[in-house]
Amino acid sequence: MKHFLTLHDLSKKDIEDIIKLAFKIKKKLKKGEQKKYLKDQTLAMIFEKSSTRTRVSFEIGMYQLGGHAIFLSSNDSQLGRGEPMKDTARVISRMADMVMIRTFSQDSLEEFAKYATVPVINGLTDLYHPVQLLADYMTMIEHGKEKNPIVAYVGDGNNMTHSWMWLASKLGFELRVASPKGYEADGIVMHETLTEAKKSGAKITFTHDAKEAVKDADVVTTDTWISMGQEDEKAQRIKDFEGFIVDEALMSLAKDDAIFLHCLPAYRGYEVSEEVLEGKQSVIFDEAENRLHAQKAVMVWLDKHK
Ligand code: CP
Ligand code: NVA
Repeated sequence: MKHFLTLHDLSKKDIEDIIKLAFKIKKKLKKGEQKKYLKDQTLAMIFEKSSTRTRVSFEIGMYQLGGHAIFLSSNDSQLGRGEPMKDTARVISRMADMVMIRTFSQDSLEEFAKYATVPVINGLTDLYHPVQLLADYMTMIEHGKEKNPIVAYVGDGNNMTHSWMWLASKLGFELRVASPKGYEADGIVMHETLTEAKKSGAKITFTHDAKEAVKDADVVTTDTWISMGQEDEKAQRIKDFEGFIVDEALMSLAKDDAIFLHCLPAYRGYEVSEEVLEGKQSVIFDEAENRLHAQKAVMVWLDKHK
């Protein structure tokens, strides 16, 4: 049995297999021929942080696959009152066929997975957001950016950055990360992904200069400066991230046909300007839609490996 906790655990082939399946599922859905791969199965979804896309895509995805999803928030489940992850994991495993968790620490997620006897999916932690990257990669492919792309990530060294670093290092493409001083990616993830990059031929570089990262890029992406759980740091972060907005001036340094990605939710005027977000290079709603198709593929893939 497999879990889906980080892209670290997946091979290049695993990622390609899931993406291939996602495109097949998407194509069938558009034709109204959705196969019920997970008939009568149940997905338990645990949310310790807010969500729009992740919740809607998993819940609708499971329904379209012939199954059912249930939503548990930490506020109104016993997790919020301190029931340990390891107990919750064993209880839910006795009833559900699969579990998706959005939580704070990657360690809590991994603790849950260690005790679970059904597949567990990472729906975002402070460290990683791997399901988002599958949707992002699908969107790159749909817009013709899968052949040796240069991807520029501008902004906070956060869960999205780390997931981009894993995707690049597994698939072997060039990723340039530009963050302000003090907001660089995690050192352990840097070390691990750079080691992986040596094997795959990926080129991952880090800079404090957003312009240097974006020059001639095929894909430009960013994320909020204030991730969930960092709300108290908002005022300081807004000061520290000055000059890291993806606006038209920065975007003009990328290739003319570059695309703009953002996992959303976006904060206009902070990490991205209104003009870029709503501009012709922005493919953010294709990207958001692909969450549905990619995650359906993850669930079917995990079910196949049970
Ligand atoms: N991108 C993303 O995961 O969005 P939600 O927080 O709305 O789920
Ligand atoms: N980095 C953001 C991603 C939201 C989807 C956060 O963790 O809040």
